[in-house]
Amino acid sequence: MKLNKILKNNFAGLNPYKPGKGKDKLTEEYDIAKPIKLASNENPYGTSSNVKKRIKAELKRLKEYPESTAAPLREELADFYNLSTDKLVIGNGSDELIGLLVEIFGADQGEIIYPDPSFIKYEVYVNLKKCQGRPVPLDNNYGIDLPAMLAEINDKTRLIFICDPNNPTGTLLSAAEIKDFLAEVPDDILVVLDQAYHEYVNDPNYFSAVPELDNWDNLFVLRTFSKAYGLAGLRVGYGIGHPAVIHYLTQIKDTFNSNRMAQVAACAALKDQLHIEKSSRRNQEEKEFLYTQLKERGLDYIPTQGNFIMIKIPFPSQKVVRFLEKEGIIVKPGAALGVKKTIRATIGSRADNKALLSALDKFLRKNNLAVSN
Ligand SMILES: Cc1ncc(COP(=O)(O)O)c(C=O)c1O
Repeated sequence: MKLNKILKNNFAGLNPYKPGKGKDKLTEEYDIAKPIKLASNENPYGTSSNVKKRIKAELKRLKEYPESTAAPLREELADFYNLSTDKLVIGNGSDELIGLLVEIFGADQGEIIYPDPSFIKYEVYVNLKKCQGRPVPLDNNYGIDLPAMLAEINDKTRLIFICDPNNPTGTLLSAAEIKDFLAEVPDDILVVLDQAYHEYVNDPNYFSAVPELDNWDNLFVLRTFSKAYGLAGLRVGYGIGHPAVIHYLTQIKDTFNSNRMAQVAACAALKDQLHIEKSSRRNQEEKEFLYTQLKERGLDYIPTQGNFIMIKIPFPSQKVVRFLEKEGIIVKPGAALGVKKTIRATIGSRADNKALLSALDKFLRKNNLAVSN
């Protein structure tokens, strides 16, 4: 095809995001009736029961375009956080907002600093939009290295991404570390704090960020309804920051970026904070269960503040992932996320976690690694 030359030329070297394998694909490949997906950090307990009712009621309005700035949802969020609506923008997932931020701040040779490994979409968008990226390796404990990120700042730096807790490692920065960092960053550089796993954090040293926004005009917070709120399939994320940044994001986003179902579902989900508390508490219980079980098996892991965990297994991660897939469990290979000889597994329900552990036991036995339980 003649267009191939242009396509290849314009997007040479693009390394797109590879989403976790879907359940249907696993069923098709290995004829497994009920695969367990622990690859995309979804909420194993689903979404609030309020959501279905609201979606059903909205069905009759499908022919109507949605509210272009998701005003009712922004109002709910403004109430929830006790701030004004001009500090909020809704995205088609926070993913969309990451892309738009890269586009705005990476224009005209602006440089973008991000941790590595971290959420892969920072890098994907930097490459896609042909911007200048400066990845900064994590420290020796798999945490984000803020001093090293500061050292990367130069006259062209426009944007810095921080992922807290960091995906894929689950590590957390302390409020003191982030505040010290913000105090050092020149105020003409936007610091984006991606807190996609905010609702799961239980470390008292966490920087909850939103109450601090008035102190830092150049701080921008990203959150999502895809994780604890259990709405990944509807695509709703949001950004909170200075009205000037919000204004430009709102100008350049797709006019109807957040759809009618997504908006009503997010409003309903936000109102059910009991569901969030339960999901977070159960995640904590299951995390402790996994910690104990992994220790019993002599398997090391990175302590996590998210709803996922990196487990160290002394084998190429693709080999482990392929084995687990044949056992009906989908996880992410650490090598694809930048941490070799690990797998990243979503912390599932007790049944999911037991299935993961029993599949891991089979792998360990097959490869002559002791299983002590
Ligand atoms: C750290 C982080 N940020 C952002 C996102 C994007 O979330 P969404 O686009 O579903 O809101 C994810 C999804 O996995 C994530 O892990």
